[in-house]
Amino acid sequence: MDKRKRIVAGNWKMNKTPAEASAFIKALKPMIKFSRTEVVCAVPFVAIQTAVTASRGSRIKIAAQNMYFEEKGAYTGEVSGPMLRDLGVKYVIVGHSERREYFGETDEIVNKKVHAVYKYDMRPIVCVGETLAQRDAGLTAEHIRYQVKAALVGLTAEQVKKLVIAYEPIWAIGTGRTATAEQAEEVCRIIRMTVKELYGKRISSVVRIQYGGSVKAENAAELFGMDDIDGGLVGGASLKLDEFAAITSC
Ligand code: 13P
Repeated sequence: MDKRKRIVAGNWKMNKTPAEASAFIKALKPMIKFSRTEVVCAVPFVAIQTAVTASRGSRIKIAAQNMYFEEKGAYTGEVSGPMLRDLGVKYVIVGHSERREYFGETDEIVNKKVHAVYKYDMRPIVCVGETLAQRDAGLTAEHIRYQVKAALVGLTAEQVKKLVIAYEPIWAIGTGRTATAEQAEEVCRIIRMTVKELYGKRISSVVRIQYGGSVKAENAAELFGMDDIDGGLVGGASLKLDEFAAITSC
């Protein structure tokens, strides 16, 4: 089996000012020095510049939490790929369930954003996940397969190789209710099999799949130890220095 480098990304959501971001990242640097995991912080747009500066000389990569798919123009309030790339952004989270739910992002928009992220030489972290109602109705597998296929429409195999997919069951986000390692693995396996159907085994074996939803230092090792889970997308716990550092060294 191909060795996949573990990737742990903190999704700060709408938290921390630029000054707080800078202080956090400077403090995190020495704490992750010996970690073999790829460490990413997805900070608010306005904190990207200071975060990139603070991360210099370390392996911490800075991500954006969203991006618009058009390059420029009359799109008041939006931020484009060239703007993010110019700041030194390496990853962009696309299709987080909060964006789908509160900001009306459809699967089509998610797909357009994924294409735009590649166009500007960054890498997407594409989020998929089911609601509790879908899980209870036995629709998890069907929904996840649909979301993955919709997000990947039109991508080349070379692009898919660089993809990170985050499985975030909506019922586990910010609720303290983590999926069990077995539940998370089951769905991450479905994601990998879906990529395999579309792009073949070689590609599916290098795509990295994260689990997200109430990841903490105390449950990260078990989750990340599963065959098809290559790291985590961490919300609340990524705002706490010791906790996040501990998760990156699981
Ligand atoms: P929590 O870790 O706070 O549950 O958030 C998960 C998440 O949405 C990460 O993108």
